[in-house]
Amino acid sequence: MTEGNELRPIVGGNWKMNTTLYEAIDLAESIVRRLGDPGDIEVVLFPPFPNLQAVDQVIDGSALQLGAQDLFWEDKGAYTGEVSGPMLRAVGCRWVIVGHSERRHELGESSAVVNKKLHAALRNDLQTILAVGETREERNAGRTEDVLRAQLTESLQDVSADAMDRIVIAYEPCWAIGTGDTATAEQAREAHEFVRSVLADLYGDDIAQATRIQYGGSVTAANAAELMAQEGIDGALVGGASLKPEEFVRICEAAAPV
Ligand code: 13P
Repeated sequence: MTEGNELRPIVGGNWKMNTTLYEAIDLAESIVRRLGDPGDIEVVLFPPFPNLQAVDQVIDGSALQLGAQDLFWEDKGAYTGEVSGPMLRAVGCRWVIVGHSERRHELGESSAVVNKKLHAALRNDLQTILAVGETREERNAGRTEDVLRAQLTESLQDVSADAMDRIVIAYEPCWAIGTGDTATAEQAREAHEFVRSVLADLYGDDIAQATRIQYGGSVTAANAAELMAQEGIDGALVGGASLKPEEFVRICEAAAPV
């Protein structure tokens, strides 16, 4: 439980490339059962594409929402293997992640590509989690702020102020993702403060203060409460721990306002 954070916390479970169909159904059922009424918090599950429809059916009528881990920047056409915004809407998605570090680094997505995907998401009325974060080398070289500023500025190119209420930023330092090496509460708070200052430069202070910024990177039930208690941390984007229902629900409880 957190105190004093004014924005409605949002916790995402990014399942990444995990769960086959029946595993996804089991996992979603287990989360629904354990979570019950999560209070004044948004909880979004991000299963792999082939499991979206089945998970949508499982979470129907619960407090959980459905999101996709990625989308393509065009709505239809000859783009073998890609998945579009209208397809995601049609299977019940209300959310999508763009700019995840695994896509930026393993799959070579630039912020220009992320920007095109962000526009596709908004055009299709999908609420969007825009992920940003520095690598270990960039942090060690003192470049964290430059990297975050560039990623935010380029990824949000031509995104209007009006659209910002449909965007959540996820600060996910690459070096903390899947490593067990989470950012300290202090490092996370500082980075969130910096991200908010960039949003203020781009959109003004009111919008910056109203935009939710999640932390992601080795969030567990053990460290969630301390991270979520930090000013300016408005929820979590959870990878590995989101595959463990009991742990994921405990993280949601840690993020929920008192
Ligand atoms: P982990 O929680 O496994 O570190 O993953 C974080 C993440 O990338 C969420 O999008």
